[in-house]
This record gives sequence, structure tokens and C-alpha cells, in this order.
Amino acid sequence: MAVKITWLPMNKTVEVDLDQMPYKEHGKPRSFLDVAKNCGIHLEHACGGNCACTTCHVVIKQGEGMLSEMQDDEADRLDMAADLTLHSRLGCQAVIEKNEGELVVEIPAWNRNYVSEGGENAMAGAAKKEE
Ligand code: FES
Repeated sequence: MAVKITWLPMNKTVEVDLDQMPYKEHGKPRSFLDVAKNCGIHLEHACGGNCACTTCHVVIKQGEGMLSEMQDDEADRLDMAADLTLHSRLGCQAVIEKNEGELVVEIPAWNRNYVSEGGENAMAGAAKKEE
């Protein structure tokens, strides 16, 4: 079995057997971030997948029913995301529970521009201060 995930706006479709996919140690296992790391898709993750930023924000266009329910910590963090929608999730926290079916997910423009706006450097500085 496998899931098919289409990433927008790149329009890149990957097919992944989640039961066979190795965990890449970023975000929850079988999360969108985990899939992205496994499939060479660039999804920002300034906090390393620890539910402490919003740079992994994704919007689910299809297949929401295949995902884990949103937990309170994800909902609280997501509230701070730019371009928030009713179908928004954090890529590092939303786990794909079904290993069969089709998902379509979009990386919002704000997150795509994050690095070019210098956001990564700002976060790296903030992360260092907390150490
Ligand atoms: S990578 Fe920071 S919340 Fe997902």
C-alpha cells in the first residue's frame, strides 16, 4: 500500500509506502515534514519539527480525513501562522494515518518566501538565545 501526495505549487507528486518509509528525525513520524525529508521536497522547519514555529505550515486541499486529529499544541501554534485557513496544519505535526489514498497539500506563499525574506537567520538567532 502507498499514499500519493501532490505538493503545490510545485505540482510534484510522490508515492510513498508509509509503513516502509524510514523516519528522518524531523517532526512526528509519518508527518508531512517526514515525507518531505524522505522525498527531497523542500518544506521549511525552522524549529526542527518541534511545534515551536509555523514555517512548516501547509494547507490541505484533499485528503484531510487521512490525517491525525489536531492536538492542542498544534492548534495553539498554528494560530500564529500567516495566511491561516480552515484547512491549515503544521507539516511536522499532521500525521498521515492512512497508508492508502491521495492527498493534495499546498505550501502557502508566506512560507515559500520565508528564507528569501531572511526569516531563517532570524529564527536561528532566536533559537541560539534559548540554549
Ligand atoms: S517545523 Fe516548526 S512547527 Fe513544524
